[in-house]
Amino acid sequence: MAIRPEAIKGVEAICDKFAQEPSPLMMILSAVQKEYGYIPLELQEVISAKTGIPVAEIYGVVTFYSFFSLKPKGKYVLGICLGTACYVKNSQQVIDKFSTLLGIGPGETSSDGLFTIEAVRCIGACALAPAMSVNGKVYPKVTPDMVTKIIEEYRAKEAA
Ligand code: FES
Repeated sequence: MAIRPEAIKGVEAICDKFAQEPSPLMMILSAVQKEYGYIPLELQEVISAKTGIPVAEIYGVVTFYSFFSLKPKGKYVLGICLGTACYVKNSQQVIDKFSTLLGIGPGETSSDGLFTIEAVRCIGACALAPAMSVNGKVYPKVTPDMVTKIIEEYRAKEAA
């Protein structure tokens, strides 16, 4: 996907905004992620050219933190918790069911652009394990049997 010239200008402006910070990289990346929804290699190169930080270092940071993304995410981000409390209550089966029904694995986005599956760490709802979130809305005690209904809930929103 080609990066639009406005996006390049926008990213350069973000770099300028944080230029005086002692270690600006995280601030720049957070702002770019928030503004554009993902940080592809092309934008990492723009950040590198503006800041002098090597692309390899930027890439390392983007891929290390799960809240940064190299690819655009779907409209609905399904964050299934694989933290300990959820894992022992079979959240892996939940993620597998989403994968089977949507035909994508964790970290991937459905071809219609609607859903991204993410395996996440503890979302702070251990008492409700196994838990998941959709764009931040928490679903408690999720079983594989509930997965179809959750997908349908969001597909119905689109059809409405
Ligand atoms: S381990 Fe899943 S919410 Fe805490």
